[in-house]
Amino acid sequence: MTQTATEFPSKLQTRRAFIQTMLGLVAAGWAGWATQGVLFPAPRAQTGQVKFALAELPIGAVKAITYEGKPALVLRDKEGVVAFSLVCTHQGCIVQWREGKQEFYCPCHDGYFDRNGDVVAGPPPMPLEQIQAKIIGDEIVIGEA
Ligand code: FES
Repeated sequence: MTQTATEFPSKLQTRRAFIQTMLGLVAAGWAGWATQGVLFPAPRAQTGQVKFALAELPIGAVKAITYEGKPALVLRDKEGVVAFSLVCTHQGCIVQWREGKQEFYCPCHDGYFDRNGDVVAGPPPMPLEQIQAKIIGDEIVIGEA
């Protein structure tokens, strides 16, 4: 039994279909790339503030919060409030607050930060990130507006 041209596509038809398919895929990919960020912009990170009642943080106390999706600690003393990211500046581990020693400790590589977030010992190359913190009326406001 012999094959006829109508039973199977010719090499030319197969090649043409392949090229058309590839061009279609390239065009679809380009269109998706070109419209990304224009028609469908990527969601931006929320930079929302964190607010809570001043009464929740007495003088001398600390409060753990989540700020921009990361753990942070708010400290209050007689002079006001300060807040620090708890993400270690060495390799990103989460530091712990040691109340008794008034310091931050990173268990990953024995990094130490003082109450002001400054490096005291260990490999961290820079202080903890300080986050804006204010007392406004009867609230504590963390982060920029
Ligand atoms: S990640 Fe904190 S000291 Fe290395």
